[in-house]
Amino acid sequence: NFTVKAGEVKASVSPNMWGIFFEDINFSADGGIYAELVKNRSFEFSVPLMGWTVPEGAVSNGQILVVNRQEDNSSNPRFAKITLPAARSFTMVNEGFRGMGIKAGEQYNFSLYARLQPGSAVKLTVNLLDDAGKTIGTTTISPAGDSWQLYKASFTAAATAAKGKLQLTFTGSGGIDADMISLFPQHTWKERGNGLRADLVQLLADLHPGFLRFPGGCIVEGRDLANRYQWKKTVGDVSERELIINRWNTEFAHRAAPDYFQSFGLGFFEYFLLAEDIGASPLPILNCGMACQYNSGEVVAVNELDPYIQDALDLIEFANGGVTTKWGALRAKMGHPAPFNLKMLGVGNEQWGPQYVERYTLFAKAIKDKYPDIRLVNSLGPSPSGDKFNFLNDTLRKLQADILDEHYYSPPEWFLGNAARYDAYDRKGPKIFAGEYAAHSRGTEGLQRNNWQSALAEAAFMTGLERNADVVTMASYAPLLAHVDGWQWAPDLIWFDNLRAYGTPNYYVQKLYANNKGTVVVPILKDYKVISGQDSVYASTVVDEKSGELVIKLVNAAGTAQPVAVAVEGVKSLAASGRLTILRSNSLQAVNSLEQPVGIAPEEKNIAVKGKTVRTEIAPWSFYVIRVKIN
Ligand code: AHR
Repeated sequence: NFTVKAGEVKASVSPNMWGIFFEDINFSADGGIYAELVKNRSFEFSVPLMGWTVPEGAVSNGQILVVNRQEDNSSNPRFAKITLPAARSFTMVNEGFRGMGIKAGEQYNFSLYARLQPGSAVKLTVNLLDDAGKTIGTTTISPAGDSWQLYKASFTAAATAAKGKLQLTFTGSGGIDADMISLFPQHTWKERGNGLRADLVQLLADLHPGFLRFPGGCIVEGRDLANRYQWKKTVGDVSERELIINRWNTEFAHRAAPDYFQSFGLGFFEYFLLAEDIGASPLPILNCGMACQYNSGEVVAVNELDPYIQDALDLIEFANGGVTTKWGALRAKMGHPAPFNLKMLGVGNEQWGPQYVERYTLFAKAIKDKYPDIRLVNSLGPSPSGDKFNFLNDTLRKLQADILDEHYYSPPEWFLGNAARYDAYDRKGPKIFAGEYAAHSRGTEGLQRNNWQSALAEAAFMTGLERNADVVTMASYAPLLAHVDGWQWAPDLIWFDNLRAYGTPNYYVQKLYANNKGTVVVPILKDYKVISGQDSVYASTVVDEKSGELVIKLVNAAGTAQPVAVAVEGVKSLAASGRLTILRSNSLQAVNSLEQPVGIAPEEKNIAVKGKTVRTEIAPWSFYVIRVKIN
């Protein structure tokens, strides 16, 4: 029998609890949530025409050159120069990111920058092609003048295509220069131009996340410093954002031509907007003057760290500064005069050793001197048991760091065995951000899968995060998104193709925690002890003071049912019935998929309550959330 001491508040639940971690890995941004359909729209990939093909025959009619004007425009140096001999045509086709997802009846917005070569007359026909190459949408553009201009045209798709393409045919004589060739669906999240895929953002919004950590992950660091994430290059006019190779590109080395780049169409302004839209506190992570220590290990000399620190100070101004400040003015110009209310900032990701401490200390001094209220998130090593982790943990505690970012990617058994990890943690030191975690479970075919075993282990572990709300103030599963045809890392919380998306069992675990986080933690005990693995049961309890409900979470990690009776002390009475949400499967290997997106998903029903006792039988391999009104 379990006892809940509803009157004994142990801690307040942090408003930031249960957030999301976004990194452009697995085609999460370009080819994923960023709704641009054209790959290599500005010809800046290392191979300038990657993503574009010229169908046979078309080449004899005209010619395409990619011109580099690096000295005039270093952020967007290349454009396409198409030359047409008299009265001929030239066709080029963009393959999209593993194809383009097109929906029948939806409006698509095409645009490009173009200028005619002097004395030319050229018309552009834009065709959207389905998987078989049939035209399912069309429009035309007639550029005029020999200076760069933005041209736009919209059309409606007549059919759905999972792997559509965009065909451009230039007809006439002379020549035309073209750049930033773009196609977006009209229907994006909040119908914004340069927008995000609405179905993916909706899945994030449904989590009601407490924070949004961005933009990574290893891409913050870069394989070398030249390819680190630099937020200033991701804001302002989209056509002026300098593309770089994605740090995860090399994981596509098996492909003939690795094609993973960061266009930064989804840049820091858009991340802040996304956070605001879904009610999450923004948590940007910045490079601390160190590249990825798994790769080059390149660090900037300490006496050359100033520009990196200045980036951090300027970012705070970009997010929070008045519209008359330099960076606040840019935010206003981009359409958001109100501040973004930035309260936390991460310095470095998964860095370790004295080099990190040396650099972090300089960042911390400069930031705290100017912005004492900004809370800093520190980078810790990836393994909670390694020497590097311990060195950094000890050192940062001595430095009185604000928030330590712990990462764990481990087998399900580790998560079950570590559910009590924070029960005996130092209460006086920094707060904990469980910044990246996922149970890595192998499916029958040997691949790491988002199976029910992994999700159940995370649910069990998360009872310990929830129970220790006075220490653990933030947590996020990682990675967040993965394209089924473009991933390097599994498991991931949400999978998608060009048209569809689904939440994994792990997603529903996150959702149940985030949507039932309550406001204060109260103890649930068995024989006066925390319930963390006895008879394979894990438990935690919160009270939602706003709704006046008790919220009990129970995880049964065993394959046999477990009868439980939860006696609630410290309340006058409980309502005669409550709501029970069950997440379960008969098989630990079960997964959701594009075809069966909700094979494992929460089921809700009423549960009878007798007096002050809640009785139930927790099904084998299941996660229960019970909400009961306290009278
Ligand atoms: O989540 C994938 C990667 O795992 C992140 O980029 C990095 O921080 C961690 O090693």
